Amino acid sequence: MIAALVPAAPLAAGDSPIAVAQSVATAAYIVAALLFILALAGLSKQETARRGVVYGIAGMAIALTATLVLVVAGGSLVPDDTTAYLGLALLVAAVVVGGAIGLWRARVVEMTGMPELIALLHSFVGLAAVLVGWNGALYDTGLEGTLAGIHHAEVFIGVFIGAVTFTGSIVAFLKLSGRMSSRPLMLPGKNVLNVGALVLFAALTVWYVITPELWLLIVVTLLALALGWHLVASIGGGDMPVVVSMLNSYSGWAAAAAGFLLNNDLLIVTGALVGSSGAYLSYIMCKAMNRSFLSVIAGGFGIEAPRSDDEEQGEHHEIDAASVAELLGGASSVIITPGYGMAVAQAQYPVADLTARLRERGVEVRFGIHPVAGRLPGHMNVLLAEAKVPYDIVLELDEINDDFAGTDVVLVIGANDTVNPAAAEDPGSPIAGMPVLHVWNARNVIVFKRSMASGYAGVQNPLFFRDNTQMLFGDAKDRVEDILRAL
Ligand code: TAP
Repeated sequence: MIAALVPAAPLAAGDSPIAVAQSVATAAYIVAALLFILALAGLSKQETARRGVVYGIAGMAIALTATLVLVVAGGSLVPDDTTAYLGLALLVAAVVVGGAIGLWRARVVEMTGMPELIALLHSFVGLAAVLVGWNGALYDTGLEGTLAGIHHAEVFIGVFIGAVTFTGSIVAFLKLSGRMSSRPLMLPGKNVLNVGALVLFAALTVWYVITPELWLLIVVTLLALALGWHLVASIGGGDMPVVVSMLNSYSGWAAAAAGFLLNNDLLIVTGALVGSSGAYLSYIMCKAMNRSFLSVIAGGFGIEAPRSDDEEQGEHHEIDAASVAELLGGASSVIITPGYGMAVAQAQYPVADLTARLRERGVEVRFGIHPVAGRLPGHMNVLLAEAKVPYDIVLELDEINDDFAGTDVVLVIGANDTVNPAAAEDPGSPIAGMPVLHVWNARNVIVFKRSMASGYAGVQNPLFFRDNTQMLFGDAKDRVEDILRAL
C-alpha cells in the first residue's frame, strides 16, 4: 500500500536518473516477488519455516527500499514538485508509525490472540484497497475509450473486494476475540441477500463502466461493507478457521486490485500469491473439516438455522485429581487430546512432565491432535514442541482415531468442540459432519475444564454426560500439577 505514496506521474521521459531509478525499482520488485515465492515455499514445512520467514523479511525490505528510492528520485529531480517531498515525508512517517505499532503488537500478542490479530491486519488491507480505489476514482487519469473503461472496472472491483474484506475481517476479529457471539447470524432469506448483493454488484459494475458517476461508487461501497459484515456474521464458530484463511485470500485479491490501479507489479504479484494460496488453504481446510468450500465462501450458503442446543443433557460425574492419578497409575495406555484450554492455562509444561513421568513407569502415552484444536493451525503442535514433548508420540486425528477403543484413559485437556460426539452422531447439530477425535470409545475419559460451558462453536457436548466420562474442574495447569503431586 505504501506504493500509493509514490507520486503518480513524477517521471518525465528523458530524465535519465529517474529512468534509472525506475529500472532499479522494477528489478528490485522482481527480486522481492521471487523472495516472496521462496518464503511461501519455505513456510510449507516445519524444518524450513524459519528460512521462509527470513526470505519474506528480505523481500519486504527490498520492496520498501525500492519504493523509497523511487520517491527520493522523483523528489530530488523535480525541486518544485512538493507532492514528491510530501510523499516522502508521508512514506517515512507511515513506515515509522506502522513499524513501531507492528513491532509492539507482535511482541505482546499471546499465541491464542494470533487469529484475531491476523483478522485485524486483513481489515487494514481491505481498507487500504477501498482508499486506493476511491483515490483512483477521484484522480483524473486522462484516459479515454477502452482504457478508461478498464480503469473504471478496476476501481469498482477493487473497492468492492476491499470493502467486503474490511467489514468481514472486522466481524472475524470481533468473533475471535469474544466481543461478538460466535453463533451464526441467521437473517431470513440470508442466501437470497448474499446472491442478490452479488448480482447487484455485477449490474452496478457494468453501469459504472459506462457512466462512472460517483453515487454508484458510494452505493457499491455501502453494499460491499454490508455484504462483508453479513457473510462472516452468518458463519458459525466451528467454521471460523476457514473464514480466517478465506479473508486472507480476499485481502490478497484486494491488494492485487490496488496493484492494478497503482500500476505496481509487485503488489499485483504479491496480492495474487496471497489470494491464491489463501484460497487453496481454505479449500484444504474445508476438505479436512468436511465442509462445502462454496457454502463457506458464500457465508454458510445452504446451511439451515441450527437449533439451539447449549443446554445440559443429563447428569455429569465429577472426579478429583488424586483419583485421576490413581486411574493413571493403573493404566497401560493413555491418550491426551489437548485443546484451546491447554493454551489458555499454559498447561503444556506440566502436561509434558506428566507424560515423561508416565512413560518412565512404562505407560504408553500418545497425543491426539485435531486439525483445528486451539485457535490457529498447528497451535497444539507448537505448544507441545515448546514443552519438548517428543514428536513421534504426537499423532494426527486420522492416525489415532481408531486407537481410542483400546485405550485405558483419555485426558481431554481444555478441548471441547474437537471431541464432541454430536459432530459424528447428530445430523442436526451445527457441527454435524466435522471430523472429531473419538475419545468416547476409550474405557475412561477425563475432561479438564473450569465449568460446563460450551466450546467455541457454542454447542453443548454430550461427551460430558456419558457414563465413562468424568469431569475434573478447574484451571488445566493447576489440575495437572495436582495430579503430578499425587503421582
Ligand atoms: P474449544 O471448543 O474452544 O473449547 C475450549 C475449552 O477449554 C472450553 O470448553 C473451556 O471450558 C476450556 N478452557 C478454557 N480455559 C481453560 C483453562 N484455563 N483451564 C481448563 N479449561 C479451560 O476448544 P477446541 O476443542 O480446541 O476447539 C477449537 C475450536 O476453535 C473449534 O470450534 C475451532 O473451529 C475453533 N477455531 C479454531 C481455529 C484454528 S485454526 N485452530 C481458529 C479459530 C477458531 P471452560 O470455559 O468451562 O473452562
